[in-house]
Amino acid sequence: MSEAATADLKAPPKVSGEKPGVGHMEEFGVNFARFLMRCNAECGELAEYNMGGQQTVLMSGPDAQEAFFKTLDSKLSRAAAYQAMVPVFGEGVIFDAPPDRMKTQLKIQVDALRYQNMKAYASVIAQEVQDWVAEWGDEGEMDFLDEFIQLTLNTACHCLLGADFRYKMTDEFKSLYHDLERGLQAIAFVDPYLQQPIFEARDKARARLQELISGIIAERRANKDTVYGDALETFMSGTYADGSYLSDNEVTGLVIATMFAGHHTSSGTAAWTAVELARNPKATEEVLAEVNALYANGGELTMETLRDLPLLERFIEEVLRIHPPLVLLMRRVIEDVEYKGTLIEAGKTVAISTYGSHRNTDYFPDPEVFDLHRAKPDTLWAYIPFGGGPHKCAGNAFALMQLKSIFAALLPRYEFELVDPPQSYVDDLSAMVLKPGSPCRLRYRRRK
Ligand code: HEM
Repeated sequence: MSEAATADLKAPPKVSGEKPGVGHMEEFGVNFARFLMRCNAECGELAEYNMGGQQTVLMSGPDAQEAFFKTLDSKLSRAAAYQAMVPVFGEGVIFDAPPDRMKTQLKIQVDALRYQNMKAYASVIAQEVQDWVAEWGDEGEMDFLDEFIQLTLNTACHCLLGADFRYKMTDEFKSLYHDLERGLQAIAFVDPYLQQPIFEARDKARARLQELISGIIAERRANKDTVYGDALETFMSGTYADGSYLSDNEVTGLVIATMFAGHHTSSGTAAWTAVELARNPKATEEVLAEVNALYANGGELTMETLRDLPLLERFIEEVLRIHPPLVLLMRRVIEDVEYKGTLIEAGKTVAISTYGSHRNTDYFPDPEVFDLHRAKPDTLWAYIPFGGGPHKCAGNAFALMQLKSIFAALLPRYEFELVDPPQSYVDDLSAMVLKPGSPCRLRYRRRK
């Protein structure tokens, strides 16, 4: 924006409590979801805080959130805000690709999650859940977060890389994936290329994973007529505008990116759903009646019948309202942006908090109460667990289908009970993705 155009604009109000050198980093580190709520309560729609020198403007409320989601990438860049992901996804992949190639890669990723593939995924997930539950017996106790982390890793591998890879999934694969995950600790958002053992392990894991995936790609190219019905097939058949296919590096990057987007978001939500089912017996009875009616009518769990479970869906939506896995979404300001007479200058970061938005009492009265029949807000931009605008979650339908499939299979067979006092099940915000704190123990008993 020209100087004349910006002359009359205000600066965003600054959040109190800044400390020399570190800004608000310490308070942010204690509980960033609560810190962001304080920023909003103190300053309103726009609140500027300081993350060790990186000025960040929190945008709160439906209008500001709509502006955040709808502003073009060329002004508010997602890629620039998520550079920590580049060594994990790979060079030239998504956040490191030139805009045109990034667009094509994202489109191919979306294609892999479209309805035609979803039918195959639904039966894969149903099978995985059945195999998992087969070992449960009549009653028992387990950590549901650990269980769901494993289950959703199995389903993700199966849907992304195919049955062959899934059933041969080695400890090596799990440890590579773990090393990639560890490469995303907070320090990576300061500089992901520092000389650090965790980053060396991350880079080695990325290279080895590419070797493994290149092996499958080569095998598949030699068996051209086989249909696999998984995401890898879609990634391998996608092309750029000039007709060229994605390289093995790019295909590997898309596999990793999809896995990262979908794995912990799904496992954390599944674990919270199990806890909320155990904590809210009345709502659970209603959902159970709906699921039982589906089976009583001779229904089986398919992509279509899962759609006929609106109460179960409402239950999961309410879980996602109270415990949104991606609390903080960010963009880097590339060109000055004006919002309601305030100037947000290039070089700053803008952020929104799904957690804070879902606790806005104008739209969600008694926000900490789990209410299955809560009225939906009259705006699209207050309830945003899957984000919004052009970068809205590409796996939204997949995630809901998977969660419904899991609980429609579990609920009629087992009842759940908390092992620890209800108030001890709290959000853990120590990693990028919100999840229930450990241990997340539940007791289960076969229904009579
Ligand atoms: C409960 C589960 C999930 C939640 C709450 C969730 C949430 C989100 C959110 C908030 C965004 C937007 C990020 C931003 O604007 O910066 C996003 C993007 C994305 N999600 Fe999800 N997600 C979930 C599951 C999944 C799954 C299962 C997959 C894939 C299998 C997936 C794939 C993606 C992809 C590819 C994007 C990027 C879309 C783009 O840039 O165009 N997500 N997700």
